Amino acid sequence: MQYKAEHDTQAGYPRLPVIGRLPSYRIYPPGMLLCLLVWLLCFAPDRVTATENDLVERGRYLFNIAGCTSCHTHDQPLAGGRPLDTPFGTFYPPNITPHREHGIGTWSEADFLRALGEGISPAGEEYFPAFPYTSYTRISRADMQALYAYLMAQPATARANRPHELPWYLFSRKLVRDWKPGRFTPGHYAYDHAQSEQWNRGAYLATALGHCDECHTPRGLLGGLNSNRHLAGNRHGPDGRRVPNITMDSGTGIGYWTPEQHRAFLVSGRRPDGSYTGALMSEVLAASSMSLTEADRRALASYLRSLPPIHNDVYYRFDPFQDRDFFE
Ligand code: HEC
Ligand code: HEC
Repeated sequence: MQYKAEHDTQAGYPRLPVIGRLPSYRIYPPGMLLCLLVWLLCFAPDRVTATENDLVERGRYLFNIAGCTSCHTHDQPLAGGRPLDTPFGTFYPPNITPHREHGIGTWSEADFLRALGEGISPAGEEYFPAFPYTSYTRISRADMQALYAYLMAQPATARANRPHELPWYLFSRKLVRDWKPGRFTPGHYAYDHAQSEQWNRGAYLATALGHCDECHTPRGLLGGLNSNRHLAGNRHGPDGRRVPNITMDSGTGIGYWTPEQHRAFLVSGRRPDGSYTGALMSEVLAASSMSLTEADRRALASYLRSLPPIHNDVYYRFDPFQDRDFFE
């Protein structure tokens, strides 16, 4: 009952135990130094791993909502090889596990940031825009770093990359250098101060991480996104599918969806008429939108609802006078 004995019941509060007969000012400063040393030795390294783990965890969340897995997974997670059919040929996204020979195990963080932000490989080669760096360039630097930390923490898989099957005229990557000007603007997402924080978060999720544009915005003949028709639908989407207009146009888009229906769609893929979205979008939802936090989902839905309605009927039968796509 040592502690009780130390109680100064008259003063009404416990007095700090004093070791031996030494006055406290002589014993405590070295004691505190010792404590600090013990803390540094024992706990500080733990704190570093804790922050690293936090970074990897944040990377996991970003990785999911950016849908990296869907293109880079065929038979083994992130080891590449899934065929990606586009109007320009079949691409086989590479192995992005940290395997030193077949994956990106030898890449520095700077190499990774350059690939995502500029579409250029560590060897200085151009990437084809089938790798949607056109959207990922808007991802913030901190988020790219978290993605890198997450990828480097995954198991390395020895799966060799398969070359793309492209028509002869696309054989050279140097062509991409001529394609980029006017079609690809590198740079992180620019915060719009005229809009709310929530709106900016939604815009960031849609245009940078979620890369909704890559499928929902029509492209010109050479595959550049037509930014005047942001999310107005695409008649020539991946796998040769039509991708619906998701602007708030009531005739050809989803203007008749209520905010609740919009949000519910991003949770389950259920449309207001009770049917479920098919094909690619259910994959996008499963891989990305369904894992959004509630706050992020609201931000995304409210951003999408704020977009100007654009009339564009992607399901229209061929009609060159109606279909402005025809001239692009
Ligand atoms: C729409 C499909 C698609 C999505 C989604 C996608 N990628 Fe890729 N990625 C590709 C293709 C295709 C290539 C190969 C491009 C080339 O060869 O020019 C590629 C290449 C890469 C490379 C270069 C690897 C190397 O060996 O040179 C990295 C790194 C990469 N992707 C990371 C990511 C990350 C991180 C994400 C998510 C933020 C992601 N990718 C999402 C299709 C995709
Ligand atoms: C890989 C291509 C792809 C990406 C990326 C993509 N979508 Fe889709 N989306 C589709 C396709 C294809 C459909 C139509 C599916 C069907 O046939 O039911 C669709 C359908 C939808 C619909 C339902 C529209 C309707 O009229 O039924 C909404 C809403 C939607 N997408 C929102 C988004 C949002 C928001 C994002 C970005 C977070 C996004 N999509 C990213 C391909 C994509």
